Amino acid sequence: MTGEYGQLESLEITVLLEDCAGYDTGLLSQHGASFLLEARHKNGKRGERVILFDTGQSAQPVLNNMQILRKDPQDIDLVFLSHCHYDHTGGLVDILEANNRCRVPVVAHSTIYRPNFSIKPSFRPVGMGPENSLQAIEKAGGEAILTDEPLPLMPGAVTTGEIKERVSFEAAPTLSLLTLQDGKNIPDRMADDTSLIFILQEGLVIVTGCSHAGIISIIEAAVRLTGMEQVAAVIGGFHLVDADEERINKTVKALITMNVKKIYTGHCTGLKAEAKMLTELGERFCRLRTGMKIIFPE
Ligand SMILES: [Fe+2]
Ligand SMILES: [Fe+2]
Repeated sequence: MTGEYGQLESLEITVLLEDCAGYDTGLLSQHGASFLLEARHKNGKRGERVILFDTGQSAQPVLNNMQILRKDPQDIDLVFLSHCHYDHTGGLVDILEANNRCRVPVVAHSTIYRPNFSIKPSFRPVGMGPENSLQAIEKAGGEAILTDEPLPLMPGAVTTGEIKERVSFEAAPTLSLLTLQDGKNIPDRMADDTSLIFILQEGLVIVTGCSHAGIISIIEAAVRLTGMEQVAAVIGGFHLVDADEERINKTVKALITMNVKKIYTGHCTGLKAEAKMLTELGERFCRLRTGMKIIFPE
């Protein structure tokens, strides 16, 4: 029996870009993330969707790796942007230009274009760059769909929408960024941090960008939204690179309590959190690398 959002038959995830390039010759890496998600809910071409999840800092390594991995940018049906950061959105327009289709939806949170900047060690804007403005997206054949609500993308695939409820130890993002409101500099809660949920027979597969909303809060939101408690895998960055030991320990404990079957992480998760997960989760933990393929059902 499938719930309100339906169920997928299969999902193939290709890591197009991650901070580490692993072993395969010719693949490029960069601080950033981009995943190709090939989802199928029934047999035949009409049952398939190819989703590009984030676009790296720049298109060049993503397009280089797509060619080596035999993935065609023309096949991309939809782009999903997990949040505003340059290392997840920078390549957007150049990748859209490599796709001849005239209306490729680009799904993101409604506040993704707000100013977002860091002041340590010195002032630096880190949000959406002007090269990826709404006008530039439209010119490149994209169509921005900016929404704060969960959005079903196909049977068995839905966005989380804004993560409004955050568990206590994830109340604030680990990194301190600022935004502007009425001429004032205020802390940015990263309300635009959204993720994708895939519903499969074996459980939920949750794909995240940096998890600035908190990985445990994201998993809880996915479970609440779908009514499915089993989590087959969580894939993406957890942004614990600047988290203290207490937060890392609470996060790993919660992953164990929630019985998340497999964790594929890297990018901004940080060595300390990765080491803790490796120790506590053993083979359930897997370090992401560019070129990796993750297939469901396994
Ligand atoms: Fe990131
Ligand atoms: Fe980020």
